[in-house]
Amino acid sequence: MRIVPELDLTAHNTFGLKSRAAYGARITSLDQIVALRAFAAEQRLPLAVIGGGSNVLLREEIDSVVALMTTKGRSILGLDKDRVLVRAMAGEDWPDLVAWLVGQGIGGLENLSGIPGTVGAAPVQNISAYGVELAERFHSLTAYDRVEDVLVTLDRDACGFGYRHSIFKATDRYVILDVTLSLPRPWKPVIGYKGLETLSGRPDADAVMKRVLELRREKLPDWRLIGNAGSFFHNPVVAASVAARIPDAPRYPQGDGRIKLAAGWLIEMCGLKAAREGSAGVHDDHALILVNHGGATFSDVARMAARVREAVNARFGIELVQEPRTI
Ligand code: EPU
Repeated sequence: MRIVPELDLTAHNTFGLKSRAAYGARITSLDQIVALRAFAAEQRLPLAVIGGGSNVLLREEIDSVVALMTTKGRSILGLDKDRVLVRAMAGEDWPDLVAWLVGQGIGGLENLSGIPGTVGAAPVQNISAYGVELAERFHSLTAYDRVEDVLVTLDRDACGFGYRHSIFKATDRYVILDVTLSLPRPWKPVIGYKGLETLSGRPDADAVMKRVLELRREKLPDWRLIGNAGSFFHNPVVAASVAARIPDAPRYPQGDGRIKLAAGWLIEMCGLKAAREGSAGVHDDHALILVNHGGATFSDVARMAARVREAVNARFGIELVQEPRTI
């Protein structure tokens, strides 16, 4: 393992923000993460882990030791009447894993096609899209416990999943090393989400995947063309009385009396679609996504985000929560 001082992270975040870490190293094995933890302790610096850099907001100067998780490997562990078990290493590319499985006729993750990022990052925010969330397909994960210096296996309950949430958002104690997924058999398509219901006949997983990828292309900017980290805020989950004050907002009842509102709509209603702060901006077509128009810095994005939060709070009395992790 080569520990690089002043590691340039500009190419390691889908926002394309200019950023540099005090130290960084590419991690390809458990031994290396253990060694890097020891190095960070010697330097008296925090250790931060980055996967695909698709859900992070990087400061220009990061006073940490950054581990770039690039461990590879994936396999089908077994299959029984009710499920297929699949395991992938943390550094595997998530969209590749989904396509690899669907390519072999193994469905279950197709609604989560095309989400940029790594397998190890998927449980952190409990990725969700088009009617499916990771927690529904999750079996367990192996993590390195930095406090106890041991390996642990965490099952679904231990991960504390919620909407865009898990224990890994609240603590950096665990470094996720591999993830095991449980894909239900027999496979059933999930096509309730607007845009998928138009799939005719009896679509297979490949047809659902292709439609999901099409929807993503239509709605979401490609970070390779314009830097972004996907949804920049959570959709707020509010009390029914709060939602009642905003009758026109797209809404998703949560089954517990609370209602999830579309943050993109709230932001658009504040007139902020296509707004700009420096080189950062709100995307022209989807107001939930902040973008880098070229050369944006952390402070441009932070200013844009603050303006959005303040406007939504002033108009609707709702506090938006940032989704990407600031490092
Ligand atoms: N909307 C607006 N104006 C906008 C954007 C959206 O009015 O500028 C409205 C849409 O018309 C729609 C509603 O808001 O009625 C919801 O929009 P959309 O279907 O695009 O989904 P979203 O709630 O904005 C969430 C996830 C996405 C995921 C999609 C599809 C969050 C924070 N985001 O977005 O995840 O792809 O649903 O399931 O829950 C991501 O995490 O990066 C991401 C893209």
